[in-house]
Amino acid sequence: MADKHVVRFEPVGIEIEADEDQTILRAAAEQGVMLMHGCKEGQCASCKSFLLEGDDVEHERYSTFALPDFEKEEGYTLLCRAHAYEDLTIELLNYDEEMIHSGLPIQEGVVEVVSIGHVTHDLRHLVVRLLEPETLKFFPGQYLDFAVPGTEETRSFSMANTSCREDGRLEFVIKVYPGGLFSQFLDTRLRPGDRLAVTGPFGVFTLRDNPDAPVVFVGGGAGIAPILALLRSMAERGIGRPAVFYYGARRRRDLCFTEELHALEEKLPDFRYVPALSEPDGDGWDGETGLITDVVRRRETALRGADAYVCGPPPMVEAALELLPALGVPEKRVFYDKFTTTGEG
Ligand SMILES: Cc1cc2nc3c(=O)[nH]c(=O)nc-3n(C[C@H](O)[C@H](O)[C@H](O)COP(=O)(O)OP(=O)(O)OC[C@H]3O[C@@H](n4cnc5c(N)ncnc54)[C@H](O)[C@@H]3O)c2cc1C
Ligand code: FES
Repeated sequence: MADKHVVRFEPVGIEIEADEDQTILRAAAEQGVMLMHGCKEGQCASCKSFLLEGDDVEHERYSTFALPDFEKEEGYTLLCRAHAYEDLTIELLNYDEEMIHSGLPIQEGVVEVVSIGHVTHDLRHLVVRLLEPETLKFFPGQYLDFAVPGTEETRSFSMANTSCREDGRLEFVIKVYPGGLFSQFLDTRLRPGDRLAVTGPFGVFTLRDNPDAPVVFVGGGAGIAPILALLRSMAERGIGRPAVFYYGARRRRDLCFTEELHALEEKLPDFRYVPALSEPDGDGWDGETGLITDVVRRRETALRGADAYVCGPPPMVEAALELLPALGVPEKRVFYDKFTTTGEG
């Protein structure tokens, strides 16, 4: 068994024990400490932190876009790739007081496929049932890591449902990439009754308390999954905050969950669904057109005091992260999940 070391996080004053053979992020998650993270693969920089004391740290492979060499030399580290070989004190550059203490310890589990349906030509609706553990606590908006059968790889997928308390079911929306390791397997080989190994829950894309503050959701592609979870949870919990969901798709055939989103407009007291198409040619479309961030820029002029939730492909998320603060959303109130893909390198 590998040696353990104490890792202290400042300024929150939380201590964990980390095995040399696990990353610091993973050790924290296992102990119910939910640190800021995104890809968990050294690509997105969400987990970047600073070594205050101790420097005996080894990193697994990461992208130098996320951690350039000069930053590493100054003492910056990526917690999703870092292994501690001595006791450390680490300054968290990015943390969320509300989330850090609410972390649910991650669990390893096995799920059985219930159904795989078509949401659009390239989005699939995967429903699974937990076999073990029988139930899993998670916050709406979080995700699980799925082991890709026959490989050492994992892929992350966000739950679109709000809990699995009643029937152990979990629901996902998954984009099929040509040649995609997991998504092609899902599309061509996975069948109801098959079993998959999962780990989780992970993620900090969860609805934060801010009574009465308006909420702006911006999503694209499979990014609809955790946003659906947040909207469904608002409806279940009777949260009547003014809310709008801007969803970007290419063409009409890429739109999904339209009926449910319109039903949510009826159910939630002040909610609007605004889909937009970036390539509407010949679709007979009379709704919004253009990139979803351009639509937000056109329609929203004053977002001071609003909270924003952004989820989807990295370029869309990055554009939204620039735009929303410029429209008045406080930077710290823009919550996001970037659906980074391993293949992008
Ligand atoms: C926190 C988090 C949550 C996520 N949640 C979801 C979710 O709910 N639903 C979902 O569908 N995905 C989600 N993802 C992405 C998901 O984890 C996989 O990365 C994605 O499904 C691709 O996996 P794959 O094995 O099918 O493809 P891979 O084998 O990883 O690669 C796909 C192939 O397509 C290429 N490729 C990769 N990205 C693109 C791109 N953007 N455009 C064109 N070609 C590309 C690659 O170069 C490669 O050849 C999430 C990711 C993160 C980090
Ligand atoms: S770089 Fe660590 S979570 Fe993305």
